[in-house]
Amino acid sequence: MNSPQIYDKIHTLAVIPILSIDSLDSVLPLADALIKGRLPIAEVTFRTSAAAEAISLLNKERPDIIVGAGTVLNVEDLRKAKDCGAQFAVSPGLNPDVVKEAIKIEMPFFPGVMTPSDIDRALGFGLTLLKFFPAEAAGGITMLKSIYAPYKHLGVKFVPTGGINAANMRDYLKLDAVLAVGGSWVATRADISGGNWPNIANNCLEIRETVKSIRS
Ligand code: 3PG
Repeated sequence: MNSPQIYDKIHTLAVIPILSIDSLDSVLPLADALIKGRLPIAEVTFRTSAAAEAISLLNKERPDIIVGAGTVLNVEDLRKAKDCGAQFAVSPGLNPDVVKEAIKIEMPFFPGVMTPSDIDRALGFGLTLLKFFPAEAAGGITMLKSIYAPYKHLGVKFVPTGGINAANMRDYLKLDAVLAVGGSWVATRADISGGNWPNIANNCLEIRETVKSIRS
């Protein structure tokens, strides 16, 4: 399902930091770096065993941050994400079982797509906000423009991720096809585990300035 409320918030913030969290001790200082950087949104990937607890902790202690679950590869992780309060969920591909469950439990869900056939399948489930992954490796902006053209009139929008960074985010965000971009460059796993909070906050502030210059 797509939720207009989450959709609007993601559009406004325009960049989703994709976080891989190894230790729960990092969660609150990381959250505070995002808040300091005025980018209060996060996709916490289910690539680490701390993911579900990290989402719960964020919801409890920093409720102003919009928290989603990333790398949701199966129904079990999707249910876990819902139980710990994730407000949206994302996957790198389109697993029909996961999509059906997301619709059933009313979890805003953005599956990964890379081809027109993937988009067709997503539309078949009524999903119109899609992760374009892996964006740069799949052909970047040229590819995205090409696959968007036949679907534009249906209201399809994309969140490109995979190879997005401070240098290319601007070009993606200028496209009509793009609701927001996502990436791990905002808060890298190394910066998180090394406690490099000033760097993360600075990355966020730079992003806010870039977004302001494009969208205001
Ligand atoms: C994802 O989970 O969407 C991607 O792994 C993020 O890609 P990046 O690490 O290139 O930003």
